[in-house]
Amino acid sequence: MSGLRLHSSDASPFVRKVRVLLIETGQADEVEIVPEQVTPLDLEPGFTANPLTRLPCLERGDGPALYDSRVITRFLDDRAGGGFYPDPPRLWECLTLEATADGMLDSAVLMRYETAMRPEALRFERFLEAQWGKIARALDVLDSRWGAYLAGPLCMGQIALGCALGYLDFRHPGREWRTGRTGLADWYARFAERESMQQTVPRG
Ligand code: BEZ
Repeated sequence: MSGLRLHSSDASPFVRKVRVLLIETGQADEVEIVPEQVTPLDLEPGFTANPLTRLPCLERGDGPALYDSRVITRFLDDRAGGGFYPDPPRLWECLTLEATADGMLDSAVLMRYETAMRPEALRFERFLEAQWGKIARALDVLDSRWGAYLAGPLCMGQIALGCALGYLDFRHPGREWRTGRTGLADWYARFAERESMQQTVPRG
């Protein structure tokens, strides 16, 4: 074993990004998966490798633990020579796509916490709609302007987007993100067939 340990959760879309990259770069057998139970309500977290108690976190035998998902994926891509972060100028689009996908996920996870964790009487509808508004505007831009990039070589931005769209299906199916966005929906239908996506379908 390489001494690499990935603190994980089967439901986390940020962990999924890392696991998809591990499979795509042929490193899945080199990293031990360590399941963790983490919620934003924990007062005394059992998991301490990341002081922020956030997943994913990658422990290494020979250096400090790495987080967040974007740091870990850059490290693992570099380790494998995977090329999933291409050279400039394509790099700038790759990073922007990854940031867009991660930003959608930030909002989608906040919505999940608002509905699954907050007592019903305290739920804030306006907050939910404001978060969905960010996601919906990002989806519109991805559908209308990113088709040519998405048709190009596989990169980490595309993996992040696939994981973000998968999370919308997992936690927010009633929002029907595909409606009116057929280009993006078609891209995702093909992307979701990848072995790396099939092996990491979220659970929990
Ligand atoms: C979820 O259950 O939706 C979730 C789990 C971990 C991180 C983010 C979301």
